[in-house]
Amino acid sequence: MKLAITGKGGVGKTTFTALTCATLARQGYEVFAIDADPNATLLGCLGYPNPETVEPLVKLADLIEERTGARPGSGGGMFRMNPFVADIPAEYAREIDGVRVLVASAVKTGGAGCYCPENAMVRALISHLLLEADVALLVDLEAGIEHLGRGTVDSVDQLVIVTEPSRASVETVKRIQRLAADIRLHRVAAVGNRIRTAADREFLKSALPDIEFAGFIPYDDRICDAERAGRPPAGASPAVDEAVERTIRILEDKRNITPSH
Ligand SMILES: Nc1ncnc2c1ncn2[C@@H]1O[C@H](COP(=O)(O)OP(=O)(O)OP(=O)(O)O)[C@@H](O)[C@H]1O
Ligand SMILES: [Mg+2]
Repeated sequence: MKLAITGKGGVGKTTFTALTCATLARQGYEVFAIDADPNATLLGCLGYPNPETVEPLVKLADLIEERTGARPGSGGGMFRMNPFVADIPAEYAREIDGVRVLVASAVKTGGAGCYCPENAMVRALISHLLLEADVALLVDLEAGIEHLGRGTVDSVDQLVIVTEPSRASVETVKRIQRLAADIRLHRVAAVGNRIRTAADREFLKSALPDIEFAGFIPYDDRICDAERAGRPPAGASPAVDEAVERTIRILEDKRNITPSH
């Protein structure tokens, strides 16, 4: 199971990623997660103590220089696009409750794809773990897929676009859908989050007729309470846990029936 999670800011991408990691770990998968959001919060969301003390990979200038041949921030110039990263998961991942997290924090860019040595490292790591047949991989992306460019997330089983029932969030889903189509990534699914009523669900379905919803996660105050208390969202709300389990089953079924290209 290899999933990349994206969607508009604040819709619940990291929460959904953490819930999915916890569920898959409980089901016996070996789970890796890459936090590729420039503003990394996944470790904290999983309940890792003092997550701010973990330096993101893109800040490890010596490592990046050793592997890519260029120092971060050194501007253009030449560097390796496919640096050696096979040893990095074992060395740098932090483990919490059976989930191994790599805080990568891709570098934020204004435009299409960042061809800096830092993001070359992040891309290489994602590509490396996508090829590890026996591990479940979740990549928590920022709102979009453009900063990593093509050739990275286009081989995931599913690009999961999380959306809340708002017009702005729906517009972001449509934009990401277009980007995905541009790179011929057709394995795209949506997950409705913070669903309070049947009307919320209907709004999303009718606003997004061209995307398949793998699931709808209910709104539950206990998820916010857990976040404020620094506790993981998994186990906070039985209804949310159940909805996530159901969503994962649908995503697994889609993987079995959808051709990979
Ligand atoms: N189903 C839910 N019910 C209640 N609260 C939720 C639910 N899902 C997420 N939240 C809350 O919404 C807030 C935003 O969630 P989260 O950080 O996961 O969003 P995000 O999309 O990762 O944000 P960002 O774009 O900043 O990375 C958090 O406080 C989280 O606890
Ligand atoms: Mg997030």
